[in-house]
Amino acid sequence: MKKLKLGNSSLEVGEISLGCMRMHAVSKEDARNVIENAMEEGIDLFDHADIYGGGKSEEAFADAIDMNPSIREKMILQTKCGIRKGFFDFSKEHILESVDNSLKRLKTDYIDILLLHRPDALVEPEEVAEAFTKLKESGKVCHFGISNQNPMQIELLKKYVKQDLIINQLQFSLMHTPMIDAGVNVNMQNDPATVRDGSLIEYSRLNDMTIQAWSPFQYGMIKGPFVGNEQFPEVNEKLQELAEEKGVTDSAIAIAWILRHPAKIQPVVGTMTPQRLSDIAKASQVELTREEWYELYRTAGNELP
Ligand SMILES: NC(=O)c1ccc[n+]([C@@H]2O[C@H](COP(=O)([O-])OP(=O)(O)OC[C@H]3O[C@@H](n4cnc5c(N)ncnc54)[C@H](OP(=O)(O)O)[C@@H]3O)[C@@H](O)[C@H]2O)c1
Repeated sequence: MKKLKLGNSSLEVGEISLGCMRMHAVSKEDARNVIENAMEEGIDLFDHADIYGGGKSEEAFADAIDMNPSIREKMILQTKCGIRKGFFDFSKEHILESVDNSLKRLKTDYIDILLLHRPDALVEPEEVAEAFTKLKESGKVCHFGISNQNPMQIELLKKYVKQDLIINQLQFSLMHTPMIDAGVNVNMQNDPATVRDGSLIEYSRLNDMTIQAWSPFQYGMIKGPFVGNEQFPEVNEKLQELAEEKGVTDSAIAIAWILRHPAKIQPVVGTMTPQRLSDIAKASQVELTREEWYELYRTAGNELP
């Protein structure tokens, strides 16, 4: 698996990561298999959140591998906080409490990367700064980032937060491309020209932030996988054609499409099936041409001006 440098940090990780949102729903044995399989494939960043399975996904992860220091040091653990029942909360108190709970559930004494999960309309950036500094100085968190935030929200945080924000985790897949659409339709009067994200790809490249792509196989708001889905015949035909040509699966091509972008986006895949994960990992060896990348984009339902 090729490596990827996260933001402007010294962290180097496998360019594909594993999201553990669905881990609470599988058996201990399946969870262990998928984690071990990931490590064998060079997937070493594991994405969590305090809310996945109401905390049960973090617990299931640590239980599955009987978490201990020697296993712990081989992996990069990322978790998130800030989503609560019916509201978002970036208060200092909540951030600190959430990290303490994640540390307990993950059976570790440090988190490699902490992300703020979804923008809190009532954010007080000074409080976030205080929380981050406390977490950094206590050694509980090594690096910080955000998720689902636009450039101005990030700039607001950066005015106060001392630590670098190395990651922005965002929904991105072949079937969810607002971050691309506006850029190829500049100054047009069609719907894709609408800038919904504040030009995040350009902002992230300018500021050396890594974009992580969540739900890379889903269409809509996690409505289900588009790969192999007969609702989307054109894109699936193209995925299949390229898969056969390159000797990998259609899922691997969908991930290779994300990896082909020069912004060096890290997909966060959520499969809990070890074989599917191994097949997806092969995306790291696939090189899509510029023409193939655009063909996939077009067959996913996008028109070029
Ligand atoms: N920051 C945020 O706001 C946010 C939001 C949502 C998710 N996330 C993160 O992103 C991660 C990935 O999200 P996700 O699980 O929705 O992503 P995904 O990788 O797009 O979807 C995985 C799901 O699709 C199923 N699937 C069915 N057919 C598939 C195929 N051909 N190829 C691949 N998967 C197929 C998988 O089933 P099997 O398990 O049976 O393979 C699994 O249930 C999460 O675990 C979480 O860490 C972050």
